Amino acid sequence: MKFPNKVKIVDVGPRDGLQNEKEPVPTEVKIELVHRLQDAGLKEIEVTSFVSPKWVPQMGDNAEVMAGIERKSGVRYSVLTPNMKGFEAAAQSRPHEIVVFGAASEAFSRRNINCSIAESIERFAPVVEAARAKGIYVRGAVSVAVGCPYEGEIAPERVELVARLMKEIGVQHLGVADTIGTGTPVKVQRAMEAALKHYGLDDVSGHFHDTYGQALANTLAALEMGVWQYDASVAGLGGCPYAKGATGNVATEDVVYMLHGMGIATDIDLDKLIDAGKYISDYLKRKPNSRAATAILNKRAN
Ligand code: HMG
Ligand code: MG
Repeated sequence: MKFPNKVKIVDVGPRDGLQNEKEPVPTEVKIELVHRLQDAGLKEIEVTSFVSPKWVPQMGDNAEVMAGIERKSGVRYSVLTPNMKGFEAAAQSRPHEIVVFGAASEAFSRRNINCSIAESIERFAPVVEAARAKGIYVRGAVSVAVGCPYEGEIAPERVELVARLMKEIGVQHLGVADTIGTGTPVKVQRAMEAALKHYGLDDVSGHFHDTYGQALANTLAALEMGVWQYDASVAGLGGCPYAKGATGNVATEDVVYMLHGMGIATDIDLDKLIDAGKYISDYLKRKPNSRAATAILNKRAN
């Protein structure tokens, strides 16, 4: 078995992590979280979404958050853009990367972005074109790639279809997302294989929610395939407002602890990352949802 010797982690905590919080999180707290993540060595941070504030009020301060960040050289900042309106607003904030997000099920596509899969691709096409014309890198996400809260289990062919459609409109990278965390290792490998029919190994990533406690195992399963890019959320924050019951992404702390233990480099300082997770968890008045963070914080306390 040959694992990659280096892994790139996108911390999606400020976006996926906070989007589902009911109480508004102040803009300064979001900015401070981004600063702490970059100080911990994260080179990729998904900062916010340029979506409708009626749909996701928590992301309504998108432009203010982007404007407030003190950018660190070598760090790339990404944002979600579901349509041209979102892209035009996002472009003012000079992201390095935008994310168009589609789904492998019709029902989830409708609930999340209010259109069919085919319509979503039509909406994304001009966004991709405009972004690439400005030199902004385009990532795509395929939600519910393994299981859907409305349609149940998802066949790999559904993922392959969306991967093909995304490729055809010029999306440069594809994230395979287990939105509700029902995936298990072999199923996740099947979904990843479907994406790999249209994207190279260097152009895919895993985005695993941890609802059923499978996300670290799913990460290991994808690592076995040579996949070396993952989204993770500091302190395991998060969830999608349109995927009821789904909990946060795999905690960045847990992924980093596992990778470092396997001799795989991330350039992330685990102690500082744990501090960043504690910062946001303290603000939210809860404990970090990360086993590694809990263990290390307990050890520090003793
Ligand atoms: P819609 O209502 O169909 O849009 O929403 P519309 O084009 O008919 O416009 C309706 C109103 O929204 C208009 O305003 C537009 O201007 C406004 P009004 O005239 O009524 O005042 N509007 C916007 N405002 C701000 N920014 C925009 C925008 N677009 C339209 N970009 C839309 C369609 C896609 C906008 C809506 O469904 C939406 O915002 N959905 C986002 C849902 C979302 O953010 N979900 C969570 C992120 S995805 C996720 O978490 C999954 C992921 O983590 C991977 C995984 O785990 O699966 C990525
Ligand atoms: Mg997600």
